[in-house]
Amino acid sequence: MTNEVIPNLTAFDEAALGQAFATLERQARDAASALGSPEAVEAFRLHWLGRKQGLLNEVSSRWLKAAPPEAKKALGQRFNALKSAVEALLDAASGAGPSDAALAAEAIDITLPGSRRLTGAEHPITKTLNEIVSVFAALGYSVGVGPEVETDFYNFECMNFPPGHPARDTQDTLVVANQDRRPQRDRLLLRTHTSPVQMRTMEQQAPPVRIVIPGKVHRNDATDATHSPIFHQVEGLCVDTNITFSDLKGTLDHAMKALFGSSVKTRFFPSFFPFTEPSADVQISCIFCGGKGCRKCKHSGWIELLGCGMVDPAVFAFAKEKQPAYDPKKISGFAFGMGVERIAMMKYGISEIGQFYAGDMRFLGQFA
Ligand code: DAH
Repeated sequence: MTNEVIPNLTAFDEAALGQAFATLERQARDAASALGSPEAVEAFRLHWLGRKQGLLNEVSSRWLKAAPPEAKKALGQRFNALKSAVEALLDAASGAGPSDAALAAEAIDITLPGSRRLTGAEHPITKTLNEIVSVFAALGYSVGVGPEVETDFYNFECMNFPPGHPARDTQDTLVVANQDRRPQRDRLLLRTHTSPVQMRTMEQQAPPVRIVIPGKVHRNDATDATHSPIFHQVEGLCVDTNITFSDLKGTLDHAMKALFGSSVKTRFFPSFFPFTEPSADVQISCIFCGGKGCRKCKHSGWIELLGCGMVDPAVFAFAKEKQPAYDPKKISGFAFGMGVERIAMMKYGISEIGQFYAGDMRFLGQFA
């Protein structure tokens, strides 16, 4: 540790000072890295920081004194930096923690306000969808899902829309491109309704079946205040022995009361769907005017909400190919399908469907 000598400085420009102090700091570091005992640490302290013979003392008395006035400031700064560095090396070698100054520089002010994270909440569509599903879950229904990219067979043919049938035109279908070489029933499309999952369920499971199927559907529809090309449906299917239209009416009447309040009335209007016979549209008494007639219900007192009907024997015939128990002579069933957006818009009084998809936190935050 005696090999460091303090040379005389002859030049005092930035470069010369930089080099001179860098050399000293390197020497201090080398020496500090070799310290193995408390005695060696003490010797290091005396050697570098000793009041009388310490090297830093010598640096200050010789270099500082010899420096021309205009170099004194820069030299003083470098000297202080070197001194801090040597002190830090000594601290580290003697196992002491960082200096008070170093601690202060790293301290955090725990009195500053924290950054607040927003709590997540269900999207109103998800919320409504879950609510519908849980009404039926409470009646003993299970929950199923199916693919959004579907074949022509499941979306149409087995639901009793034969090829070329005009009812296909009522569902503006988005098809997957370049499928022309496949047989029609294998061609892929974006499902236009959740009804194909009725058949997928029956193929997997013999009766009795009670299932609801929530999911996303696609149609080649122009967007307006109440239509979106992508929306959500909840499908329902109940198959067992002796299922009647009364069961259908009772089930849906209960579901509408559970969703919209016990004072809501329902009525069933004749309608047509290829996969049900008879088919009906379900109307509920207007929840805005209580049935007296207002702008929302076009002064009729009723609002149309969903489609339903008794499963058509032609649909059971397709199911029977995989599950013989779907024999329309022995079993019967009902089905229904409802639009989730439409129900959410009614429940929350929303007049623009686009609000659901715009991602505006001022809108979404109201459902949290
Ligand atoms: N799939 C029909 C649609 O999207 C809705 C529907 C009507 C589903 C009657 C059913 C049903 O299960 O029985 O327009």
